[in-house]
Amino acid sequence: MTMPAPRVFSGVQPTGNLHLGNYLGAITRFVDMQESHDCIYCVVDLHAITQWQDPRELAHNTREVTAAFLAAGIDAEKHIVFNQSQVAEHAQLAWIFNCVARLGWLNRMTQFKEKAGKDSENVSVGLYAYPNLMAADILVYRATHVPVGDDQKQHLELSRDIAQKFNNDFAQTIREAGYKDGFFPLPEPLIAGPATRVMSFKDGTKKMSKSDPSDLSRINLTDDAEAIARKIRKARTDPDALPSEPDGLKERPEAANLVGIFAALQGESVADTLKTYGGAQFSTFKPVLADLAVERLGPIGAEMNRMMADTAYIDAVLQTGAQRARAIAGPIYEEVKKIVGFIR
Ligand code: TRP
Repeated sequence: MTMPAPRVFSGVQPTGNLHLGNYLGAITRFVDMQESHDCIYCVVDLHAITQWQDPRELAHNTREVTAAFLAAGIDAEKHIVFNQSQVAEHAQLAWIFNCVARLGWLNRMTQFKEKAGKDSENVSVGLYAYPNLMAADILVYRATHVPVGDDQKQHLELSRDIAQKFNNDFAQTIREAGYKDGFFPLPEPLIAGPATRVMSFKDGTKKMSKSDPSDLSRINLTDDAEAIARKIRKARTDPDALPSEPDGLKERPEAANLVGIFAALQGESVADTLKTYGGAQFSTFKPVLADLAVERLGPIGAEMNRMMADTAYIDAVLQTGAQRARAIAGPIYEEVKKIVGFIR
């Protein structure tokens, strides 16, 4: 037996408003990968509770992320969509990985340091062990490719280290079970380029974020046409006209952001957008961008709102997805138990 066939896994946390940054940075890429790969897309509710979540909001947000996946064009029949807590193997493999990963490795995780801040004595143990669960998410399917934002690069490297150490620590039983090149593949990150990095409408040097107190800083996927247009109209810009070459966007973060968003929504390069709009003032460009954003996002938001009005359909999709995910994860976890030496 050699390494498993290519398989994509990725996850999104149900921790609040989905916005344009999530859409362009993650969800549209998930949609694209469906053409070339078998994909598993997971709403990671176990990850969400590493920081306290109001239970009713957690359920709402889990359904909303699912609705966004479906509305954006993820095919839950050809591929798999489910929420993490319905597949117990994630948490079970995570425990084994807690015993494979080293304290020193986790101590280097910059996202933990940022999230814990000065109060690191008082955050949950789960927040610290979070990257081990992430490794388990991926490897419990022996997934090979993981589309993520650049903030997750370090966690992906940790997943590779865990896979590698597991393969080494249990080399003998892995070989005895018939696996020639180790049991877990080393999963490859597919990192989004800077073009898909969406910045705040209030400050072009900060990422668009659900936690920004100003709702004007972001476009939420459930915003209606009027809200989308208003936020673009009010977005911060500089006084100059658009340049005709991408080079002219250096040192102009707000202009670069709006042009980048246009290009991404239009499915063209920034250079092409500037060929059309170079020389235009923002008073001309913003309404065009607003129209495009409404055209692309409007139907998605409307479909999400429609699905959220009767959640039975969403819940059924998640349940079926979980069953199908279990059918893959179950046998892999059985192999892991054998390899580790657990009586079955
Ligand atoms: N940590 C990821 C994030 O916050 C979400 C996530 C959890 C994930 N498990 C994953 C992403 C597995 C990719 C693969 O964005």
